[in-house]
Amino acid sequence: MKSPLDPDFKLGVLGGGQLGKMMALAAGNWHLPLYMLDASRDFPAGRVTPFFTEGNFQDFDDVYRFGSQMDVITIEIEHVNTEALHQLEREGKTIHPAPAALDIIKDKGAQKLFYQEKNIPTAPFQLFESETAVQAALQSGKIQYPFVQKSRTAGYDGRGVSVIRDEQSLGKLLAGPCVVEELVDIDKELAVIVARNAGGQVKAYPTVEMAFNPQANLVEFLFCPAAISPELEQQAEALAIKVIEAYDLCGMLAVELFLDKKGELQVNEVAPRTHNSGHHTIDSCYTSQFEQHLRAVLNLPLGSTKMKSPSVMVNLLGAEGYEGPAIYDGLAECLAIEGLHLHLYGKSLTKPFRKMGHATVVDESLERAKIKARQAMNTLRIISDK
Ligand SMILES: Nc1ncnc2c1ncn2[C@@H]1O[C@H](COP(=O)(O)OP(=O)(O)OP(=O)(O)O)[C@@H](O)[C@H]1O
Ligand SMILES: [Mg+2]
Repeated sequence: MKSPLDPDFKLGVLGGGQLGKMMALAAGNWHLPLYMLDASRDFPAGRVTPFFTEGNFQDFDDVYRFGSQMDVITIEIEHVNTEALHQLEREGKTIHPAPAALDIIKDKGAQKLFYQEKNIPTAPFQLFESETAVQAALQSGKIQYPFVQKSRTAGYDGRGVSVIRDEQSLGKLLAGPCVVEELVDIDKELAVIVARNAGGQVKAYPTVEMAFNPQANLVEFLFCPAAISPELEQQAEALAIKVIEAYDLCGMLAVELFLDKKGELQVNEVAPRTHNSGHHTIDSCYTSQFEQHLRAVLNLPLGSTKMKSPSVMVNLLGAEGYEGPAIYDGLAECLAIEGLHLHLYGKSLTKPFRKMGHATVVDESLERAKIKARQAMNTLRIISDK
């Protein structure tokens, strides 16, 4: 294989959103250009790479044409056209993560079956073809309340997930093929991001703890380190490593875990890429998840995953009640917070709860970092005057 530092080496990325943008910024340190494919040059990554191809990463021809010109292909989103990737792989292209792993991960039903087959702990589940099949299973007693219903293919950021507690909430049932899972009695939601290269080297980052915005059902704060015992920390990291090895995956894998009230860990779902739950690594770990992803897909030695400092990451979401060109109200006050690192994605339009950026606060004390992160969330308001 050509060296990634050859001037004509081409690393192609499907997707040009904020994850692609942060990957391109990390690649910049090595003077490595990233080639990206997404619908519009106005997307976040369009600002930081001149090699932006406008196209649809869900379209066979667009992915095939783009991928044919690359030496290595990777992703920043899993919902890409994998038929084209399989074709490119057959023709000898290097693709990380492998299209076969993407096929499983893109489908929450296939993911659950995979965990069952590989003896990876996950909440008990059943698969259904339609809403009516779920209704019938309820009537025959095959499913009991409460349960969680998930669309097999449509969901992200909590959309495509419905918690059905009783008959009154049946109106929230989702249409189409789905997974029905037992409602886990959650103590904490944790995530471990883990990296693996083609040589089989694996490294896990310290476990993080996620705190959700109950209204938007997406992660609001993320704490690193998680408030768990050293034994659980070890178990969580070992489980994440078991999962990435089971998928035989190269690149980053974010493993979302539930710690239940009995103290047991279960895998909720994974994302085969850099992830929101790893954003703090840019400012608080020896190696950022974006550089680690590059190392992994280029089969370079993985960097240290050690933490330099405790940190809190807060997602900066569009304020409720505003939709239109974004205005960052309270920016100066927010930037005055000690240890705060601001990351704005450059999305031109804001809307309620849209992820517009994130901030990471580093501090020797996690408790102090939590206070400052809340302060940041309350001072920086992303609004619009339209
Ligand atoms: N079996 C379950 N028991 C209890 N809560 C659950 C269960 N499954 C999901 N949840 C809750 O719903 C949230 C979203 O579920 P999940 O991660 O599967 O969906 P998602 O749309 O892919 O989310 P995201 O893109 O934000 O990661 C979880 O983080 C958790 O809070
Ligand atoms: Mg999730």
